[in-house]
Amino acid sequence: MSDAAITLTINGQSVAVPPGTTILAAAKSAGIDIPTICYHPNLTPNAVCRLCTVEVQGARVLQPACVVPVAPNMVVNTESERVSTARRVILELLASTVDLHEAPEIQGQIAQFGADAARFAGGKQRDIPLYDDNPFYIRDYSQCVMCWRCIQVCADDVQFTYALTWGGRGIGSHVGTAFGEDMPDTSCVFCGNCVGVCPTGALKGKVEFEREHSDS
Ligand code: SF4
Ligand code: FES
Repeated sequence: MSDAAITLTINGQSVAVPPGTTILAAAKSAGIDIPTICYHPNLTPNAVCRLCTVEVQGARVLQPACVVPVAPNMVVNTESERVSTARRVILELLASTVDLHEAPEIQGQIAQFGADAARFAGGKQRDIPLYDDNPFYIRDYSQCVMCWRCIQVCADDVQFTYALTWGGRGIGSHVGTAFGEDMPDTSCVFCGNCVGVCPTGALKGKVEFEREHSDS
């Protein structure tokens, strides 16, 4: 490690990493796993899900580990009661509006943090149709956790196509195409990158979708 390394403490363990390293990466280098949903190693972190939230001594609010860089002598706790409570509530809120049956990693996180997936049941559900408007993939936004990965990979993180965007507000917030156009009428080149980065069953190849539905 060079002289410029930054030393901090994570869960009581001293960790030295290069300047600019995020808390998430520093923890990983020390073998400490912080749960994530929106983070993807090949995309710009956008910090929308907040599941990676950690406690930083002296900070007023919990910090998203995927975007906050380390600082000298920082003291981080990734497992405090406050952190666990925040993660549990985030997962309970997600489960209240999103169909997570094809999101095994998030289901594992729900179990890990003892989240009650039915805690906020009965609230207003998002009423979003399944879009089957092209030969290559379907979009089932009832399973969308709004992580932004598909929008980023379609935009200037990878593909520079800008077929996907963000619309609505509040409970009506959703990913989609500009003006709700069918996908073939957009700039989409059907590269499949969005399907590849989606952490749930919201984006799925047509072949897989049709196989599942012919089985049922
Ligand atoms: S469709 Fe998938 S990748 Fe896109 S925001 Fe929703 S969950 Fe994330
Ligand atoms: S993983 Fe950090 S905010 Fe989503």
